[in-house]
Amino acid sequence: MLNIVILAAGKGTRMHSDKPKVLHALAGVPLVQRVMDTAVELEPSRTCIVYGHGGEAVPEALVSYAASFVLQEPQLGTGHAVQQALPHLSDNSNTLVLYGDVPLIQTSTLKQLLLAKDTLSLLTLRMDNPTGYGRIVRNNLGKVTSIVEEKDATPEQRAICEVNTGILSAPTHLLRKWLAKLGNNNVQGEYYLTDIVEMAVAEGLEVSTSQPANSWEVMGINSKVQLAELERIWQNEQALRLLQQGVTLADPARLDIRGKLVCGRDVEIDVSCIFEGEVHLGSKVKVGAYTIIRNSKIDAGTHIAPYSHIDTASIGDNCKIGPYARIRPGTHLHKDVHVGNFVEIKNSEIKAGSKANHLSYIGDSTVGSRVNVGAGTITCNYDGVNKHRTVIEDDVFIGSDTQLIAPVTVKRGSTIGAGSTITRDTTENALTLSRSKQLTVAGWQRPVKKKKE
Ligand code: UD1
Ligand code: CA
Repeated sequence: MLNIVILAAGKGTRMHSDKPKVLHALAGVPLVQRVMDTAVELEPSRTCIVYGHGGEAVPEALVSYAASFVLQEPQLGTGHAVQQALPHLSDNSNTLVLYGDVPLIQTSTLKQLLLAKDTLSLLTLRMDNPTGYGRIVRNNLGKVTSIVEEKDATPEQRAICEVNTGILSAPTHLLRKWLAKLGNNNVQGEYYLTDIVEMAVAEGLEVSTSQPANSWEVMGINSKVQLAELERIWQNEQALRLLQQGVTLADPARLDIRGKLVCGRDVEIDVSCIFEGEVHLGSKVKVGAYTIIRNSKIDAGTHIAPYSHIDTASIGDNCKIGPYARIRPGTHLHKDVHVGNFVEIKNSEIKAGSKANHLSYIGDSTVGSRVNVGAGTITCNYDGVNKHRTVIEDDVFIGSDTQLIAPVTVKRGSTIGAGSTITRDTTENALTLSRSKQLTVAGWQRPVKKKKE
């Protein structure tokens, strides 16, 4: 059993944005949603988000989660913020306090912190430059006695390098009792959550401390500068993880993963690729430079040439895609399919060994095996009101610059002459074309430029 409180009421003035600070994204996911996703992994029985600015934008962004929301207005400090959440917490378990603007806290670090169940447990960090943070004050036995905010600290206390990350856990009934006694007699006139440390010590409790596995886990976001810095740190972490798994990255500094990227063996990724949502790359997949892949599965041995866009598609083994291919949602390519430059495919299935190598649009179509789609072929799927399907059966050869007016079926083994407009189903294994015969106009002359009067 666990309660989790996420503090997210801060204004974020230094973001210079109309959007609440915690809704700005790191690696494609809003800060507070990252914290929420980590919270979910701890399987809390109750989660409460304390929000403040931006109207209902924060609760709306998190509607899909099982959580309660409390508005903190005005914002009188971190202790006051947790007080607002108290009615939503159950007494017979611990409460973990997280921050909506500290997005990269990891589950493993929190599990460590939560090992101390019967006392106040603080996540602390040693920093070379502790400026701005609350300092952890310890007695000569090394036991924590208080946290002092920088603005309230003596010069000796300011020299302390162990800082309060803000993240803590405590038995809920004790937290409730301590918060009721909180005052605001300090330099900032705020109700400091950190004042509960002295209360715990006064009751004879030994305050427990633990540290994050990585310092970036507890970095908070107050400005776009810090957001950009943490984004790079996180991207670097992800790139390192891929390199350690054996993925070849042309340049780990030029890779952006906004979600989850799962790679098989001997995957090669060239510079400046972006992966969004959940992307799976099979063994020996090669991804060319400047490619963007979103929520897709690419099977083994497929090569994607530069500047391709692939969104919500599944691509089979040993396909050749791009350069400059655009594969849109609902596309399923079987194995050995070739999709070349300036080919757009949407909501279509293309079976094994088929090719569309140049300048085509294939939408709402079912394409069989071993089909050759000539350059400039267009499936005319939209009549201005409704979308219709095009069916191209196995072993079809479509000449260049053909329009297929859907709904229409190109039957097995058909050949379509270049430049045709196909409005009716074709006949199996026959040549169909719909263009006028070539003729020569005798005596025709090119116009000549008129002389100026
Ligand atoms: C707080 C800690 C400090 C710690 C630092 C780590 C206190 C008194 N101090 O200081 O020891 O080193 O965090 O970053 O707790 N918030 C609310 N409502 C409020 C005030 C704050 O929701 O009324 C939220 C903010 O949105 C933010 C977090 O609490 O996510 C921390 O608030 P902030 O004002 O940044 O605290 P600090 O003064 O930096
Ligand atoms: Ca802060």
